[in-house]
Amino acid sequence: MKFRSARTIFLMALLPAVLGAGLVIGRTPAAAQSSQSAGGGEAPAYDSSGQVMMPANYRDWVWLSSGLGMSYNDGVGGAVERARRPNFTNVFVNPSSYRSFQQTGTWPDKTTLVLEIRGSETTGSINKGGQYQGGVRALEVEVKDKKKFPGNWAFFSVKVGEDRGTQFPASAECYSCHAQNGAVDNTFVQFYPTLAEVARRKGTFRESSEQK
Ligand code: HEC
Repeated sequence: MKFRSARTIFLMALLPAVLGAGLVIGRTPAAAQSSQSAGGGEAPAYDSSGQVMMPANYRDWVWLSSGLGMSYNDGVGGAVERARRPNFTNVFVNPSSYRSFQQTGTWPDKTTLVLEIRGSETTGSINKGGQYQGGVRALEVEVKDKKKFPGNWAFFSVKVGEDRGTQFPASAECYSCHAQNGAVDNTFVQFYPTLAEVARRKGTFRESSEQK
């Protein structure tokens, strides 16, 4: 017991709650890991109206990368404003899907990605130049759930402080931009340097996504 990893202890604490108390004590975490979809209690959950539950512990998930002031349109006014106070975007994914990506170069079913948008700060403490991250401004969640969504993926918006998010309709730009421009399976792996390397090695990286 003493030498069990933090992850094992986490799983042992979580699995009974998810699968029914008592039944799974003594089951090895390997059983949860071997499936091709997110395991270990990481699969997306929804309420009865179809809202996605915000994974409360996403900050313990794997951080893929951060964007700074990234802009997807050419509006000049907006660009000037963003250049002064650019937002940071932090991207997180559930750990079992991250491990699966390392093996296959793509996302398994039941993957959840969180985009955390934070404002930037310039003045505080000893800082004399440059920017650091401020408070959360918005959260966006992207879920792969083949049985539930016709295009495999769905996008949700989660208001800061709320525990669930509302799905964007299939006509929203999220779907078309991600499908057309994401380097791997609807996601912007071209902007996550360590994953881009894995995807290139596995042959799953769509090179045409690098076009400007
Ligand atoms: C015009 C293109 C475009 C549109 C429209 C767009 N995104 Fe994205 N999205 C991006 C880019 C580029 C990134 C990479 C951001 C980074 O590196 O910080 C991204 C990253 C994400 C991620 C992190 C996982 C991933 O797919 O790489 C989520 C979640 C996300 N967007 C949600 C949304 C939602 C929700 C909407 C609709 C409200 C939306 N996006 C609309 C371009 C777009």
